[in-house]
Amino acid sequence: MEKVKIIIATENHFRYAKEICEVISDSAKVRGTGIAKRTPEYIQTKMQNRNAVIAISGNQFAGFCYIEIWGHEKYVAHSGLIVHPNFRNQGLAKKIKEFTFNYSLKKYPMAKVFGITTGLAVMKINSDLGYKPVTFSELTDDPKFWAGCKTCTNYDILTSKKHKMCLCTGMLYDPLKEVKKKEKWYDKKVLKRLKNIKQTMLASNKQLLLWKK
Ligand SMILES: CC(C)(COP(=O)(O)OP(=O)(O)OC[C@H]1O[C@@H](n2cnc3c(N)ncnc32)[C@H](O)[C@@H]1OP(=O)(O)O)[C@@H](O)C(=O)NCCC(=O)NCCS
Repeated sequence: MEKVKIIIATENHFRYAKEICEVISDSAKVRGTGIAKRTPEYIQTKMQNRNAVIAISGNQFAGFCYIEIWGHEKYVAHSGLIVHPNFRNQGLAKKIKEFTFNYSLKKYPMAKVFGITTGLAVMKINSDLGYKPVTFSELTDDPKFWAGCKTCTNYDILTSKKHKMCLCTGMLYDPLKEVKKKEKWYDKKVLKRLKNIKQTMLASNKQLLLWKK
């Protein structure tokens, strides 16, 4: 099997759009869970706008994921993660998600990153990237995002719960919070170093005084 490469999808990958949709829909049927339906045209628009990531092995599509923008770039979601059955359980989903995550942080640095999922694999991958589980109230209130759930088999549950909860778990990564955490850690480190320097200077001053006496 040829090496799998992960790249930003372009018009050159339009030919894979139909197969991507089929694998997404077939996998949802096998899992028996609901999923937002995607059309090949929608997937192609994502490729055209450089908002999709594809994994390719030779001429075969191995995996895919795309970025959605909500609430005027206040939020982004990484959706439609799919790994072709021939390439599963080799860490590919993790690599695709990581690539998409880093790419989207560069492209939309101020946006909170979120996802909703019923999949344990996705929950694990998201947690490793620093996402936290949250209630739906923390996610975008953009009606266009929630309209995507209309094609899911669990949509009745979402509406009966007034869009407050459903079978999916919401997960969120807030880049600003992460920057603040890093700053706090950095401040602590600098303070500790300054304290050490001060203590060393005081100790050597004391020794000097004793020596002079
Ligand atoms: C879910 C899916 C993307 C995983 O792809 P993959 O390349 O096999 O996943 P990875 O090998 O990168 O595994 C990532 C982690 O998830 C775990 N995992 C993978 N498949 C899993 C499964 N079916 N159930 C539970 N955990 C799973 C792995 O053990 C790994 O965990 P670790 O980091 O603790 O070792 C793939 O099975 C798929 O396309 N399924 C159908 C579509 C789907 O379910 N998409 C998610 C929509 S919510």
